[in-house]
Amino acid sequence: MSLRRLEEGDLGVLLSWRNASEIRLNMFRQHVISEAEHLAWFESIRKDASACWLIYANPPGVPSGVVNFTRMDNAVGTAHWGFYAAPGSPPGTGTQLSLEALDHAFLSLRLRAVFAEVLSSNDRSLAFHRKLGFREQGRRAEDHKIDGAHIPVLCFELSNEEWRQARAVLLERISAASAAIAGKTDRSREGD
Ligand SMILES: CC(C)(COP(=O)(O)OP(=O)(O)OC[C@H]1O[C@@H](n2cnc3c(N)ncnc32)[C@H](O)[C@@H]1OP(=O)(O)O)[C@@H](O)C(=O)NCCC(=O)NCCS
Repeated sequence: MSLRRLEEGDLGVLLSWRNASEIRLNMFRQHVISEAEHLAWFESIRKDASACWLIYANPPGVPSGVVNFTRMDNAVGTAHWGFYAAPGSPPGTGTQLSLEALDHAFLSLRLRAVFAEVLSSNDRSLAFHRKLGFREQGRRAEDHKIDGAHIPVLCFELSNEEWRQARAVLLERISAASAAIAGKTDRSREGD
C-alpha cells in the first residue's frame, strides 16, 4: 500500500506540484496559490469529515502523487475524486496511483460509486478516466468559468462492479506490457 494520509509535512512539496503549470492549468482553480492560502486550505480540509486526502508514495518514502475523495456521503456510498501525479514522475505513475486509490475507495471506504468532473480541455484526464473504466454521464449543467471563458465540464461515474472489471483489464495490460519490456531487454542482452 503506497497511500497514506496527507500530513502537514507534505505541504511544501504539495504546493510546488499544485502550482506547476502542467497541474495548475488542468485544475478548476488555476491561479498560483500562495503559501497563506495553502495553509488556510489545509486547515479547512483537516476539519472536513467528508474529505480524505492521501499522498501516494512510491517507492516508499518518495511522494509521487496525491489523491482526494471529497463530498463523501457515507449513507449513499458516493464521493468525488481528484488526483495528480508529481510533475516529472515516470509514465505509469497516474495508473499505479489510481489502482491503489480506487481499491481504497471501494474496499476500505466501502463506496458504491466514485464520481469525477473533468474540464473538457483536459484531454489527458478524459482519456485516463475512460481507461480506468469510468462511464461518461454527460456535460454538467453549468460550464466552468475561467477569465470570462466558459469551459464545459464532463461528468463521469465508476461503480464498484465496473471497477472490478476495469481493474482486471488494466492489470492484464500492465502485465503484458511488463512482459514485452522484459522480452526486449533479454533480446538486447543476447545481442551483446
Ligand atoms: C492525469 C495524470 C494523473 C495521468 O498520469 P500519468 O502518470 O501521465 O498517467 P499514466 O502514464 O499512468 O497513464 C497515461 C494515460 O493517460 C492518457 N494519456 C497520456 N498522454 C496522453 C495524451 N497526450 N493525450 C491523451 N491521453 C493521454 C492515456 O489514457 C494513457 O494511458 P495509456 O498510455 O495506457 O494509453 C497526469 O497527467 C496528471 O497529473 N495530470 C495533471 C492533473 C490532472 O489533470 N488531474 C486530473 C484532474 S481531473
